[in-house]
Amino acid sequence: MPSLKIAPSLLSCDFANIQREVEAIEAAGADLLHVDVMDAHFVPNLTIGPPVVAAIKRVARKPLDCHLMMTDPQRYVADFAKAGAAIITIHVEANAPVSDTLDAIRKAGAKPGLVLNPETPIDAAAPYLNRIDMLLIMSVWPGFGGQKFMPQVLETVKAARKLAPDLDIEIDGGINAETARQAVAAGANVLVAGSYVFSGDYAARIASLR
Ligand code: DX5
Ligand code: ZN
Repeated sequence: MPSLKIAPSLLSCDFANIQREVEAIEAAGADLLHVDVMDAHFVPNLTIGPPVVAAIKRVARKPLDCHLMMTDPQRYVADFAKAGAAIITIHVEANAPVSDTLDAIRKAGAKPGLVLNPETPIDAAAPYLNRIDMLLIMSVWPGFGGQKFMPQVLETVKAARKLAPDLDIEIDGGINAETARQAVAAGANVLVAGSYVFSGDYAARIASLR
């Protein structure tokens, strides 16, 4: 299994002080910065777009992991890559041709990944596992931070790890010290955490996830 990485979700940071937050979370030990892009269509919430990603990129040293919760990601992947995204993940449930969109992400200079909603079976991602750099498995319904971890997704994580021993497998939603342990035991190695890391001492919370 690849090395453990902690990816704090900036969705839970103080947007009025984003530079200070990025610097603080990096100093606290973040390996990646998880950026939740919501289009008010694929999910009800509306968050940030390429100009804000570009602003984060100007102050960040760690790679930006952009999670696109969008109905039509194909139209926007080049903009996010240009804004500085290192990794761009798209949902298999989106209204996009998966192969073409993964190719477009790579062509634009970013690493492509796929995301599965909690109830989507691993079969939906299986055909693409050899051509993605990360598989993200949602452990809550996408759209909002602060929800409760859904343990049933651990079966999907186990199945994914069996199919792809060397792939970065990321888990997102409801991650804290306890659920992180379960996710890693099932085979996840990239842990997204929003409300948990940003609601306490950042370094202590990140250390507790490790
Ligand atoms: C949910 C987002 C998550 C969210 C995680 O739609 O994809 O990244 O910010 O937040 P917590 O860790 O609070 O569940
Ligand atoms: Zn996310």
